[in-house]
Amino acid sequence: MEVITARNLVKEYHGLRAVNDISFSVHRQECFGILGPNGAGKTSTVRMMFGFSPITAGALHVLGWDVTLDAREIKARLGIVPQENNLDLDLKVLQNLLVYASFFNIPEPQARERALELLDFFGLSDKHDAKVDHLSGGMKRRLTIARALINNPEIIILDEPTTGLDPQARHTVWQRLRQLRSRGVTIILTTHYLEEAAQLCDRLIIMDHGDILDEGTPGLLVERHVGAEVLEVGQGAVAADNLLKQFQNQIRGHLVVGDNLVLYPLNGRELLSRLQDLPQQFDHYLLRPSTLEDVFLKLTGRGLTE
Ligand SMILES: Nc1ncnc2c1ncn2[C@@H]1O[C@H](COP(=O)(O)OP(=O)(O)O)[C@@H](O)[C@H]1O
Ligand SMILES: [Mg+2]
Repeated sequence: MEVITARNLVKEYHGLRAVNDISFSVHRQECFGILGPNGAGKTSTVRMMFGFSPITAGALHVLGWDVTLDAREIKARLGIVPQENNLDLDLKVLQNLLVYASFFNIPEPQARERALELLDFFGLSDKHDAKVDHLSGGMKRRLTIARALINNPEIIILDEPTTGLDPQARHTVWQRLRQLRSRGVTIILTTHYLEEAAQLCDRLIIMDHGDILDEGTPGLLVERHVGAEVLEVGQGAVAADNLLKQFQNQIRGHLVVGDNLVLYPLNGRELLSRLQDLPQQFDHYLLRPSTLEDVFLKLTGRGLTE
């Protein structure tokens, strides 16, 4: 069951193409990731989903509604966590939720009950009377997510939910998002953190320069592009031609990253021991499990945060 479908979706700003003819769909109750570096087109894509930004071409449907025609219906059913927290700093924590609830015409007693529940869920109960300004970055982020849930949305869209948070605050957000998913909320998130995508997402698209480079589960993407293991040969780039010729039957691909040679071995341990038996020795050898970072490097030739 598809809750969001994008067909040949395009976003242009004065001729600059930020989203270049992309198609994808989000399934009910999954956590769907849009992974890509700065400028990839992630924010542009999600802003079109919640009707903050008109589409330039193509088609985009949310819960069966057309974003160009039915923005009101869509907004009522979505939870939105924008890239920048936009909490009302003049209001206290609980008041932020209550004011937001009033935009959805939720009756006051019901809004209060829901708000208190959400504060509890996000570990903010003891802060209900605190000024938003006095909260830590992680707390502000949790409050923004709580606020997005006040209308009990079927889908929550989070734009870079943990950017700028310290690792502990990040893990707390991840835990809550996992719990939400297990309660049946469909989650869409953008991120440039590979670990976040790997930890949370059932499926994801990898974007760069407005294009979708590939889509799949984290495991499938790793398997498709690099295989289970990576063998890094420190300072191996100078000998790349030789090594590649010699071991061409034992690798499925390679990449030169600066001075290092990165090999995608068919059998990591065997290749490692063959390399260590060579008369020529290298700076270091590192055999490790592959990650989405390797996939991104393979697809674009550069890291995600460069
Ligand atoms: N409001 C805007 N006006 C003009 N250009 C924009 C606007 N918003 C984004 N862009 C450009 O569109 C491209 C994609 O940006 P964005 O969607 O914010 O990417 P991401 O969220 O992946 O960093 C970038 O080149 C960015 O500079
Ligand atoms: Mg962005």
